[in-house]
Amino acid sequence: MTGKTWTVLGIETSCDETAAAVVRGQAPGPGEILSNIVFSQTDAHAPYGGVVPEIASRAHLEILDTMIERALSDAGLTLADVDGIAATAGPGLIGGVMVGLTTAKALALGAGKPLMAVNHLMGHAMTARMTHGVEFPFLLLLVSGGHCQLVGVGGPEDFRLYGSTIDDAVGEAFDKAAKILGLPYPGGPAVEHAARAGNPRAYDLPRPMKGRDGADFSFSGLKTALRLLARDGAKGAIRIEDAAASFQAAVIESLIDRTRAGMALFRGDFTNHGPRGDVLVVAGGVAANQAIGAALGKLAGEEGFVTRIPPPRLCTDNAAMIAWAGVERLSAGRAGDALGTSPRARWPLAAPA
Ligand code: KG4
Ligand code: ZN
Repeated sequence: MTGKTWTVLGIETSCDETAAAVVRGQAPGPGEILSNIVFSQTDAHAPYGGVVPEIASRAHLEILDTMIERALSDAGLTLADVDGIAATAGPGLIGGVMVGLTTAKALALGAGKPLMAVNHLMGHAMTARMTHGVEFPFLLLLVSGGHCQLVGVGGPEDFRLYGSTIDDAVGEAFDKAAKILGLPYPGGPAVEHAARAGNPRAYDLPRPMKGRDGADFSFSGLKTALRLLARDGAKGAIRIEDAAASFQAAVIESLIDRTRAGMALFRGDFTNHGPRGDVLVVAGGVAANQAIGAALGKLAGEEGFVTRIPPPRLCTDNAAMIAWAGVERLSAGRAGDALGTSPRARWPLAAPA
């Protein structure tokens, strides 16, 4: 790495993870994660089978200060040593976002450091630069609990939307599938675990959007099909592992078909390909799924792409990705945000291409 490196404190509170991290580096990466701590509120929300916003914001408030102190001490630094403070400013549950952003504003003001109000999706999108030094342009498959999109990324502010879900996000589909099958919350890892012991060809479930024009996704029909299967199975006819494996196989086939379509759109859009060929970056919590990762790797091989998938703990929500988004901003020579910056419940990454 040549030139100046930037050290940034990151704060993430947009959903049910309270997280703080310190990252050092320079775009395009890779960066160095000096500390990265995540407190998952899973136990607090588990009795409700999903995230309860009021419980989430209170839990963030209780623990965030301690998390920040620990992130700095784990990194062996004080606030005076960082070049900026980055916090998720949206999209997400507004109460939680307010807790994180307000804390960041107070720290920025007190320490005289720039505040960076980061788009959570930008954090996911740029993680593969922090981990692998991926250069622009790349095709991004963003698959999380709230989002499911294929985006061409030409630069830190150049996002071109090729497709998105017309109903449920893929992580949401995993969470609902888990509920239907009586598996624990959070659903994604539970379904993946059960699927390992099941037969993916046991039940015939739909492959939503397969073969359709464009690169949009849909998962609500698949969820309904699974619900009908489970209802019939209440008579004792279905095996949970087989149902989980069949569901996951349907998701994978749909994701592969849509990503193949996204690859064609990306190739039409960007004539200057990355220095090492075309790159597919997979980001967001669902990217932690090993079976999905393997299937996308195989697709990439067939289509002449290479895949870059961050390790699972950097795919699910974390603050290192938020700190890295701050490093990207400072590397690009951009100033910090005003202390009056508002939190945003909705904040799309890209408008349709
Ligand atoms: O990115 P993330 O941590 O939070 C959002 O910004 O949404 O993603 C969480 C989502 C949840 O829906 C969760 O069930 C899903 O990612 N997920 C998985 C796996 N791990 C997390 N889905 C499938 N397989 C997994 N192993
Ligand atoms: Zn996320």
